[in-house]
Amino acid sequence: MKLARKVAIITGAGSGMGRATALLFAKEGAKVVVADCDRKSGEETVDLIEEESGEAAFVAVDVSKAVDVERMVKTVLDSHGTLDILVSNAGIYAQGDVVETTEEVWHRILGVNLTGVFLCSKYCVPAMIKRGGGAIVNVASEAGLVGIENQVSYNVSKSGVIALTKSMALDFAPHNIRVNCLCPGRTLTPLVEKVIVDSEDPERMRRALGEDRPLKRMGKPEEIAAGILFLVSDECTYATGSVLVVDGGYTAQ
Ligand SMILES: NC(=O)c1ccc[n+]([C@@H]2O[C@H](COP(=O)([O-])OP(=O)(O)OC[C@H]3O[C@@H](n4cnc5c(N)ncnc54)[C@H](O)[C@@H]3O)[C@@H](O)[C@H]2O)c1
Repeated sequence: MKLARKVAIITGAGSGMGRATALLFAKEGAKVVVADCDRKSGEETVDLIEEESGEAAFVAVDVSKAVDVERMVKTVLDSHGTLDILVSNAGIYAQGDVVETTEEVWHRILGVNLTGVFLCSKYCVPAMIKRGGGAIVNVASEAGLVGIENQVSYNVSKSGVIALTKSMALDFAPHNIRVNCLCPGRTLTPLVEKVIVDSEDPERMRRALGEDRPLKRMGKPEEIAAGILFLVSDECTYATGSVLVVDGGYTAQ
């Protein structure tokens, strides 16, 4: 077991790659904190973990709100006494160029995708310093590495997550906290399913979304979870400030 008895918070663990990561971490022996703003899906993830005899608990949080994040960390410390791993995965998506994007959408996307990662680290790092170290993985995107048209607020939020990761890696290396980033490419999760269903021609869109990359398919949430597990595990103890790209070759083109 790679994460035996480790206490791990995973944000956005009610769905998609967050859920896949929660299931994998639990299988590897972690005590998983399923942190999500959607209680129903978060509790479903906990049920799935418990069905496999894993250990998990749900904590409701909107990662864009400091009071929520502070309360989440307090809840975890009250029940477990420590915190070993943080995976900042919660994220939302919006389309639009700078002209079309409203200020409200801009602030909402930046608020969840970037400020949310900042806040989770802000309140988790002191507990990690106290225990003498820890591992953080921030989930960014291929969209943080290259320009992708018509999703400007999302792209900017994910570039920010990469910069935040590198800054934090430098600041907290003296405290033995490794901070890395995983950039998934397009992965078939409910987030992408919504884009497909909302499009004019969903079947055409489904095919097109996989065809723009060398491996000619979308990723599976489990393939992203495997990368996140590697980054937090003791097989990866020399990596900090790194960006692991898992995108079917999209950004290599
Ligand atoms: N799916 C992709 O193709 C893809 C590609 C690159 C990066 N990503 C990133 O990966 C991460 C996970 O994406 P996914 O596809 O699994 O998404 P998803 O929509 O399936 O799951 C996201 C989860 O985050 C939760 N969430 C949303 N806002 C929240 C908030 N404010 N506070 C707490 N929880 C919140 C949702 O309730 C949901 O359970 C996101 O950061 C996303 O931007 C996804």
